[in-house]
Amino acid sequence: MDISELNQTIGEIEADVAAKLAVTTAIDALRGYETAIVGKKGSLGSLIASIKDYPPDQRGGVGQAINEAKQRVQAKVAERLGQLQAEHAAKEASQASTFDPTLPATPRPMGSVHPVTAVQWEIERAFERLGFTVEAGPEMEEEYNNFEALNIPPTHPARDMQDTFWLKNGMVLRTHTSPVQHRSMLKFGAPLRVIVPGRCFRYETIDASHENTFHQVEGLMIDRDISIPNLIAMARTLLAEVMQREVELRVRPGYFPFVEPGIEIDMNCQICGGSGCATCKRSGWIEILPAGMVHPNVLRAGGIDPEEYTGFAFGLGLTRLAMMKFGFRDIRVLNAGDLRALVSPRRLGGPTIPRRQEGATSTASCDSTS
Ligand code: PHE
Repeated sequence: MDISELNQTIGEIEADVAAKLAVTTAIDALRGYETAIVGKKGSLGSLIASIKDYPPDQRGGVGQAINEAKQRVQAKVAERLGQLQAEHAAKEASQASTFDPTLPATPRPMGSVHPVTAVQWEIERAFERLGFTVEAGPEMEEEYNNFEALNIPPTHPARDMQDTFWLKNGMVLRTHTSPVQHRSMLKFGAPLRVIVPGRCFRYETIDASHENTFHQVEGLMIDRDISIPNLIAMARTLLAEVMQREVELRVRPGYFPFVEPGIEIDMNCQICGGSGCATCKRSGWIEILPAGMVHPNVLRAGGIDPEEYTGFAFGLGLTRLAMMKFGFRDIRVLNAGDLRALVSPRRLGGPTIPRRQEGATSTASCDSTS
């Protein structure tokens, strides 16, 4: 092509570039476009290769024309790039200034559980690993299940130990979770392994360590050749698991009509470490686990032959254990509906809330009366 054709081509390329730049808004596309024009194989860049086709005296002028055109194109691209970058930055800045801190947060798992529920879940998981079933029973119970079936006849003085709320329909608010021992024996027969977390009630004067409403976990294991050492081993495993450390146990004789022999398992006070404080009444020990070997009369009432099977039972003070674990000195806090008493899932050792047990009692939810 002669010089005038070349100038025309250059002019067309530059006009194209101008049109294209005006409509391009993407910064990356612009960079690619620049290469497509001025690069070695680009529409303008490739003209350089044709310089040698011109007579020697014209080559200098041709080269200069092409190079000047290249520079103009590069300057135009750079200018447009600067414009786009400025627009982009302005847009980002305006988006940042419209950030509204009052908008609701992105949904994520949140919430807390009642300390009693937290410990209940831990115990359920520990016992499930040992092959126990989690059972539930009613809070409003037959007098027979709460007392007679547990070897406490109507005139028995042991009834005084568990003064309760009598309902107009003749039923009682259960004083312990032990009636579910009887219910489970009838339901499953022997051999049997159940735990029963649940809410219990007693006609009590309320103070820092007594409530009319509290939680227990009943444990019952019936099989051939079950004896006291099984019970103590179980207690040690359970308490160490919940407290997340080795605990010291002390075993004393205890009396409950539905066990023979009956024992009281105490744990070294986790608040003072055993040196003596108000919580442990300066003794260094906390009564945590009344227990014993299931009385033959109770097995018989549950349809189980005491000649063939033996079993142990315990009635863990769940509320008391939760107080120990989380360091509450006053039991009333747990029923006061004070949100500050709730346990963050993180304090339970992980961000996930443990799954609710199917069939577990519904009484230990996060409500303020539990
Ligand atoms: N039910 C008894 C109470 O509440 C505790 C207990 C349970 C004792 C099982 C022995 C065996 O006091």
